[in-house]
Formats: sequence, C-alpha cells, structure tokens
Amino acid sequence: MNLEDVLGEATTVAVVCTQWGDTGKGKFVDALAGWADIIARGTGGANAGHTICIDGVTYVFHLVPSGILRDGDGKLNVIGSGVAFDPNTFLNEVEVVEKAGLPTNHLYVAAGAHLVMPQHFLLDLLRESESSGKLGTTGRGIGPAYVDYYQRIGLTVNDALNPGILRAKLERNLAQKRQLIRGYAPGVVEDIMGREALGGGEFWQAGDFNVEAIIERYRAYGNALRDRVRDTDELVRQAVGKKKILLEGAQGNLLSVKYGSYPYVTASDCSVAGLAQGVGISERHVDLTLGIVKAFYMTRVGDGPFPTEMGGKRSEEWCDGSAEADENQRFPSAQVNHSDPFIQGIGVRRAGNEYGATTGRPRRVGWLDLPLLRYSKGFTGNHVILSKLDVLDECRTIRICHSYRYEGPDYSVGNCVLKAGEILTTANLDSYVLRNCVPLYKDFEGWMTPTSSVRTPEDLPDKLRQIVSYIEREADVKAVVLSVGPDRDQTIVNV
Ligand code: IMP
Repeated sequence: MNLEDVLGEATTVAVVCTQWGDTGKGKFVDALAGWADIIARGTGGANAGHTICIDGVTYVFHLVPSGILRDGDGKLNVIGSGVAFDPNTFLNEVEVVEKAGLPTNHLYVAAGAHLVMPQHFLLDLLRESESSGKLGTTGRGIGPAYVDYYQRIGLTVNDALNPGILRAKLERNLAQKRQLIRGYAPGVVEDIMGREALGGGEFWQAGDFNVEAIIERYRAYGNALRDRVRDTDELVRQAVGKKKILLEGAQGNLLSVKYGSYPYVTASDCSVAGLAQGVGISERHVDLTLGIVKAFYMTRVGDGPFPTEMGGKRSEEWCDGSAEADENQRFPSAQVNHSDPFIQGIGVRRAGNEYGATTGRPRRVGWLDLPLLRYSKGFTGNHVILSKLDVLDECRTIRICHSYRYEGPDYSVGNCVLKAGEILTTANLDSYVLRNCVPLYKDFEGWMTPTSSVRTPEDLPDKLRQIVSYIEREADVKAVVLSVGPDRDQTIVNV
C-alpha cells in the first residue's frame, strides 16, 4: 500500500495541520505531489517553513509549494491569491531549487497575491519590539500585509508589473505608514530599517522611506516574476474535478485568525476553508482533507496558551528568549525521560529537532492534547496523519491529555458561566479559558524500541498501536497514515 491508496476517488485533496503548525506537512505534500497535477498554496506567506527530506538531502522552503521538487514531471506549482507574497524570499528559493539542478518552469504566482513590502516588515517588528501587544510573530511582515489588504491599500503582484500603478499605490500606502510610525522613536525605526532582511538600510533615507529605492526594487521583482504571473484562481477553478489538485496548508488550525487561539494566531485563515478560498475555490470542492497531528507530543512557536506544555511557564519564557545553542550549552544531557518536565521538554525538542524552520526559535513542547484535537478536527474531518511517531521511541511514559479541568475565576462563555473545577473534553479556544485549563492525563507505557524502519501497521509495537487506537477512539478520528521519520519512505499506510 502506498500513500495514494488513502485518497480513494478524491481529485481535490488538502493537507493541513490540526495543531499550531510544524507537524510535517512538507513531507506529505511532497509525497502526494507524485499523484497530483497541481500543487497549490493559498494561505500564509514566508512565515511558514516546510521541510522536505529526500535521500538524505534536506530542503527548507518558506514560500514555494513543497511540490516544487516534482516540477520536472510537468506538475504545476501554484502560489495562490490568498498568500502574502514576499518576492525576495520567493526568488531566493527559486534560485536554490535551480542551483540544485531542478527545473521551476511550472511554478506560477497569482496576479492577485498581496505583496509583502519593507513597510510591512517594519510594522511587524515594531509591534514585536513593544513589551505589551507582542505575539511572538515570525517578523516576516505577514500581519501588516494582510491588514493592508483588508484596509484596501495593499499592493498586488500584478501591481509590480505596472510601474505607474506601483508608484501611485505605494505612495498612498506609505502616506498611511508614516502616520503609523510617528509614535515610535526615530532611532528604533531606523535600526529596524537597517536590518539585513530590510536591505540593510536600502529602503530608508534621511528619516523617511526611500520611495525610489522601493519602487526600483519592486519593479525589478516584477520583471523577474512576469513570466510566472497568472490568474491562478481561474486556473485552479477550471481544473476542479478534471485534474488532481493538492492543496498545501500553512501553519495550522489553531493558528487560524478565524478558528485559532486568537489573538495568538497568524493573520490568515489557515483552516481548509481559508486554504480553498486562497486558491480561488470553495471548501466544498475539496473531496478529502488530511489533518496532520504530531504525535504523541505537540509544539507551538510564539506566544499564547498551551495547556500541556512540558515545564509550563518556565518553558514558555525559556523558548521566548533562547536559541538552540543556549540549550545545548545549559542542558547538554536533557533527554526524553528526565523527571523535571521542563528539562524533559528540552529532551523531546532535541529528539524531534523542534527548532523553527523560519526563525530558528526553540519550539515549545507539550503532550498531545485531545481536547484541542476534538475541537480542531471539526474543521478538517476525521482523516488524520500521525506524524513523528519515532521521536518518542525511547520514552518510558507517554502522557495523553484526555480532558481539562478549568481552574480560573468565574468566566462568562455566552449564556453560561464557566466555574472552577468544571471538566472540559473539547477545548474552548478563547485564550482566557485555555490559559486557565489544567490538563488531565492518561499515562501509557512507552514501547521502547526503534520504529523508524517499520513499514506496516502490523510491525509496529503493540504498545504504540494501543495508544493510536486510544486516540482514534477518544477523538473520533481515523489515523490513515503513520509517519516514522522524515524521509518519503518512512511512512506507514493504515487503511
Ligand atoms: P506571523 O504569522 O509571523 O504573524 O506570527 C503569528 C504567530 O504564528 C506566531 O506565534 C508565530 O510563531 C506563528 N507562526 C507563523 N507561522 C508559523 C509556522 O509556520 N509554524 C508555526 N508557527 C507559526
């Protein structure tokens, strides 16, 4: 059996994450790209980090669809109109792929995708420099680019192809940005505009945006992109039902601006509904959604509640300010069975290599949370992929959170009042509620044997299979695929 057997008759398939991102979507999108005619992204931007490992070579992409490594087979790779598009990152990634000797002829960009520009990076980083209101964003300008879209002052990829329009729209946009940055110390603004990600000062001159430099740069981007720009919404819409379409999610349901742990979310709706819309089709055109669940631990990057976090607040604070190197130096012997949950968390992070693909930040680590999964699968359906199962091969006790006890003050939720001591089996994504929930666990004995070379469900250790069955039963999901390593072939089909 191979992965495609899971798809049945479906012609439009979406792969999304049911958690806070970083569950291994890249691997599955790449694997299913062999099946698809079109691989399309529709949400997020260069805040995403998709890691693909083929024959021991690791590729990390932020913007180009993970199917790009199959371009040589004539597969179409599409960056949809819902993506916040940073041309600089995009062109760098294209260069990496081409340097690896792989073609990029069939890589298209939506004319209507919104541009991420220097002023967006600036606003994102200014917000993150404040002590209150900080969200722990990736600092890639994603939120401010979407704000401009909704404020109807954004610039599209198509605008970069039309110099007159580019200038007029940019001047209008920057007039508004000048007002916004007025409240900040000029030194802070100048410092940010001098960063490498912002051209090392190229776009800032004498205390103001260097409009000419920005225009020149984005015109150049327009020229470099011209041959790839299309009405991709129409292209994908026309292909529904006729071609095999694979939609590649970014981030995860719990980071969706619509369904996630608001305000600790990203700025796009990264659920399957937002993803479909971001490539120009409706969610009802998606025949099958595969929701990825990292198991039996989960991760989160950035601020926000995380009930099962190993080491709780200590871990949250540590991950906010440290780098992988600090961890290796301070906790060289941390491992997955440590009795202190904080250090155990570091051990799991190390075993799973849970360091941000975009920012390099240590990802916060916690146990698998079924109340969150029960909530999240409401947007994805019940077909799930359990990823990274091999990471806890050496863990003596696996803890699964089956429910929460609310321990905060009385809190109104609609017409009900949530009181201390109440048990919740499905998560309420209100950040206030989530922060005040204590996880209740069922403990399982670990299987304590390597799994990365297992290829059939029957060959998995019994103890592991029992945990999978428990999750399927408790969360009402079907684990159709189990992943035991980063390589394409370290995949077990379980149908
Ligand atoms: P932004 O998307 O950069 O605005 O960041 C908003 C929140 O989403 C922050 O907590 C980020 O850490 C988180 N985030 C954005 N992209 C990813 C991702 O690809 N994986 C995990 N977290 C992400």
